[in-house]
Amino acid sequence: MGLFCYKTTFMIFDLIDFTERNLRFMEQYRNSQNEKYIENIRKYTEERKAAIGDLPGAYIRTFGCQQNEADSENYSGMACEMGYRLVDAPEEADLILFNTCAVREHAELKALSITGQLKHIKTANPEVIICVCGCMPAQEHRLGDLKNKYPYIDITFGATSLARFPEYLSRYIDRRKNEREARKRMFFPDTTANIVEGIPVVRKSSYKAFVSIMYGCNNFCTYCVVPYVRGRERSRRKEDILADIRVLAEAGYKEITLLGQNVNSYGKDLYNGSYDFADLLTEICEIKGDFWVRFMTSHPKDASHKLIDVIADHSSDKMTPRMARHFHLPLQSGSDRILAKMNRKYTVDYYLEHVEYMKSRIPDITLTSDIIVGFPGETDEDFADTLALLEKIKFVNTFSFIYSPRKGTPAAEMVQLPEKIKSERFSKLLELQNRISLESNSAYIGNTTKVLVEGRSKTNPEFLTGRNEHNRLVHFASDIDCEGTFAMVKVTDADVYTLRGTLTDK
Ligand code: 5AD
Ligand code: SF4
Repeated sequence: MGLFCYKTTFMIFDLIDFTERNLRFMEQYRNSQNEKYIENIRKYTEERKAAIGDLPGAYIRTFGCQQNEADSENYSGMACEMGYRLVDAPEEADLILFNTCAVREHAELKALSITGQLKHIKTANPEVIICVCGCMPAQEHRLGDLKNKYPYIDITFGATSLARFPEYLSRYIDRRKNEREARKRMFFPDTTANIVEGIPVVRKSSYKAFVSIMYGCNNFCTYCVVPYVRGRERSRRKEDILADIRVLAEAGYKEITLLGQNVNSYGKDLYNGSYDFADLLTEICEIKGDFWVRFMTSHPKDASHKLIDVIADHSSDKMTPRMARHFHLPLQSGSDRILAKMNRKYTVDYYLEHVEYMKSRIPDITLTSDIIVGFPGETDEDFADTLALLEKIKFVNTFSFIYSPRKGTPAAEMVQLPEKIKSERFSKLLELQNRISLESNSAYIGNTTKVLVEGRSKTNPEFLTGRNEHNRLVHFASDIDCEGTFAMVKVTDADVYTLRGTLTDK
């Protein structure tokens, strides 16, 4: 009996915990409080329209990854709903919003330098409201920089507060109306990161869409700032994701990219192990529509055989929708010693075993990866191990990065390598990868590949450009404008970055 009570208590606790978590995670964008903020901003934008003779402009600029791109589509959606029109130049704007990135110093410095240019715009138009949001202001030291060195920034808030944009803007507008407060700027603290459904969206493309399936990260790789600025893993409910994808499929979207910092751990926080990323992909592939499915990004420790099986079972040429035969699996280093220092929680052998399994199930799958060079303590031998692994796996492309210390992360406290060694290793890695990319691209010559056409090439308008399902860039000559449709291209030539070919009907 005692044991029974004990067990029952546990079960009830589990149940309460699970239900509370669901409640805490889910909010609707359209709630009565938010409606008031939206209404308040609408009144303001109408007044501005009366004053300037047109809808006030909103200029939204994105720095960084696809998650930020997707978030900016939500900022665009919210801004339009509140009475703004999207504009392409900050000079034309009444509202300027910079959605920033903090993953490497380079991205931060770029955003800060472009923020510096806003000074002139503020001087010319003191009415303009300047918001800096995203990952950068979520770090205390950067928030300090933004406060102290950029006095013309009016509002800051972090990436987890996206859905509170109407509230913050509305509160700022009210404060401005009040004489005494008029000059005060507002720096909003990071909020607890709930999932908010129903945020309006203005998509940049009518045929390629991002769908966030989860937010945040629990992994705390020692070099990475993401868990600190985007919070812990939170999965969206599968019903909400599937509903979004049904709408996109019906609207004729051709490519859907599922987004998350680590999509492979989808559902762990929500479904207690009873429903995972592979299950979600299976349901997505059952939705009717002529589209292919991609996902970004994956952690090798969570890339299961079950997931690989689902991709294999849904990637046949005859299927629609189907999984693109491409897997981006960030390796980071080819040395077990460095992987351990990075807190990556897998070994080279484990990684290789998964690559072997992928290749056995989907022989023509293409693999791409992220590599960091110059991580603290990386020796010549560690780096040689990374090069050797690249030779062995033959990723068709790698995104390689020089390690960039991020304040507040454990690796930033470790003894750093000299810049010279880092950049020499980076060049060597690039040289090797270019050779491998050329080899793998050349292997396409003579084959026909299906391409989602993305428009005219910027360098040569006689060519159309697009990506095939392996995520290779393809150029082909055509005078038919078929952006947003699938085309079959026979590959006749290749270089490190591109396949070139001719249109065929097969
Ligand atoms: N320095 C260099 N590269 C980094 N990345 C993440 N943090 C850092 C850092 N501090 C790279 C990783 C990750 C990719 C998105 O960015 O390779 O996979
Ligand atoms: Fe950063 Fe690692 Fe999380 Fe990727 S998995 S976001 S590298 S902490």
